[in-house]
Amino acid sequence: MNPELLRQYLEYYQDLGVKTLYRRAAPGVAAPEVPAPAVDQPAAAPAVEQLALAAPAAERPAAPSVLLAQIRADIGDCRRCPLHAQRTQIVFGVGNEEAKLVFVGEGPGADEDAQGIPFVGRAGQLLTQMIDGTARREGMPIRRPDVYICNVVKCRPPNNRTPEPEEMEICGQFLFRQLEAIRPKAICALGGTAARALLNRREGVTRLRGNWFRWRDIPVMVTYHPSYLLRPYNQNAKREAWEDLKKVLHYVYD
Ligand code: URA
Repeated sequence: MNPELLRQYLEYYQDLGVKTLYRRAAPGVAAPEVPAPAVDQPAAAPAVEQLALAAPAAERPAAPSVLLAQIRADIGDCRRCPLHAQRTQIVFGVGNEEAKLVFVGEGPGADEDAQGIPFVGRAGQLLTQMIDGTARREGMPIRRPDVYICNVVKCRPPNNRTPEPEEMEICGQFLFRQLEAIRPKAICALGGTAARALLNRREGVTRLRGNWFRWRDIPVMVTYHPSYLLRPYNQNAKREAWEDLKKVLHYVYD
């Protein structure tokens, strides 16, 4: 059979959802010209041979990058809640879109609002030090660009106030879609707002931190928000946050 016609047949069956075709070597009929299989065939090939087709496009899960681009497009120039009024720009997320670990913060601050990237201000620098420093000390080749970082709300709350429940509810749908797109092995919730959004629990971080919970079927570790750790009287919390991070990194990357 002419290869172009064969290609059209294969595409046709693929579109119908057929994943496997069988080629029967009929007497006197030339076998279709198909690309040689990657593995060696035994000398006496069986009469019926299986040709695996790639899964039809409709069944193939879209790559995280495609899903994330779609979510960003759906957010658009969002005006769904009052936070849009004073933002400079939407701060969507940053990092490895196929990360095994996602950090979720509260919402952009002034630096993030200006640059459009989560955790680039003082709290962000501390978060970078925590990720890089803990991984280095534990002998893991993991650095900040290996993880994905985003926030519960994508627009800066005025004067860095805590987002209102309605704002978290509206923007939370996009956070949940980001997490479903990436499907990391674990999530690290930074602070009370992230813990509330993901776990729907009202206890403070001091009670929740250091323990595993679940968002849908994905394990979630709660720890202190880096902004809280920047306050000089929270040195003990800093040590605890380092312990929490160690647990997460070992769980995800060991
Ligand atoms: N605090 C957050 O919660 N998120 C950021 O992106 C920066 C500071």
